[in-house]
Amino acid sequence: MNPTAAKPNTAQTPDLDLVRAAFPALQTEVHGHQVAYFDNAATSQKPRAVLDRIDRYYCEENANVHRGVHTMSQLATEAYEGARERLASFLGASSSRQIIFTRGATEAINLLAASFGASFGAGDEIIVSAMEHHANIVPWQLLSERTGVKLRVVPVTDDGELDIEEFRILLNDRTRLVALVHVSNSLGTINPVRRIIADAHGLGIPVLLDGAQATPHAPVNLKELDVDFYCLSSHKMFGPTGVGVLYGKAELLESMPPWQGGGDMIEEVSFSGTTFNEIPHKFEAGTPNIAGAIGMAAAADYLESLGWSWIQQQELDLLEYATAQLSQIDGLRIIGTAPKKAAVISFLIGATHPYDVGSVLDRLGIAVRTGHHCTQPLMKHYGIPGTVRASFTFYNSRSEIDRLAEGLQRAAQMLA
Ligand code: ALA
Repeated sequence: MNPTAAKPNTAQTPDLDLVRAAFPALQTEVHGHQVAYFDNAATSQKPRAVLDRIDRYYCEENANVHRGVHTMSQLATEAYEGARERLASFLGASSSRQIIFTRGATEAINLLAASFGASFGAGDEIIVSAMEHHANIVPWQLLSERTGVKLRVVPVTDDGELDIEEFRILLNDRTRLVALVHVSNSLGTINPVRRIIADAHGLGIPVLLDGAQATPHAPVNLKELDVDFYCLSSHKMFGPTGVGVLYGKAELLESMPPWQGGGDMIEEVSFSGTTFNEIPHKFEAGTPNIAGAIGMAAAADYLESLGWSWIQQQELDLLEYATAQLSQIDGLRIIGTAPKKAAVISFLIGATHPYDVGSVLDRLGIAVRTGHHCTQPLMKHYGIPGTVRASFTFYNSRSEIDRLAEGLQRAAQMLA
């Protein structure tokens, strides 16, 4: 069987075995067992189509972009700018000028803080929430230290939803930006982003959504959503590490000062003054991650070839099945029970330490993440040091979840 030939399309329901065969890393043996990979929120595995595309770039097209008259540089430039077009259509952006390639969602938010945040000052406010990843807290704290801008924090309810009434109270004429997570990495909560954007825009306040955990699970249409800024990481959505996107409305990106300086982001350099390139190049100093961007575009192609309806149906089935199986384990408590959830289950078993549970599962070839998941304020809200987190995606199976449930039964007995 040729795994790349297994690439399903929306015209027919993908076959799970063929889909799984397209991901070489899912064949890995861990302690004598085929891995059951449930750490997809940390990073996803890569399909052969993505790996082959990166290989082809390096074997046949590798050259620097925007710099050469020679054929290979033109091929590389076409592939790189083609990737930008592909990401624009994947995200429903109205123009590829709105797509800035970054190292990932973290760098995207740091760019925004340094550039868009440069005009913020004492008396201004930024709204974040208690369920943010550290990547959407610390850049704003660093900005706060530099400028005096104040962070206001939307609380989280016990089942893991944003307290929307409190959010509305926090919005005011000092708010310069609302910066919230689209889908929580620790809890799986899908936030009501349309309402949030409408409320913020009602007061003329721009919104950034951290979409790192959203884009692997559901289609987004940023033009329709009318969000001002959005960011994602390729490696969470089956593409390579070290690359991601910052999307911004063109008029906002145009009004923002450059961030990093160097080659490609300039129009003309002289010692009497430098002028800058147009967006998006103004924000891409130096040689970019060319192979990464091309690989990320291949991941977008792959996801759409599977079809979102199949992906979402598969993940809903896994979430419901796993929730039912895990709920039968004595003492298991799920952290994050919002009605609208992505396929993530965070939990604790009695007084056992998440790290110990994760270690028992690892001996059985089952990969989960343990700890605070880069959301320490959220763990503090629940009064816990961390959780065990199983994060599912379309290539997981019910039989893998059966292995997880058996492994947890065993861990619960061993660690009791
Ligand atoms: N943010 C990643 C996670 O949730 C690393 O695991």
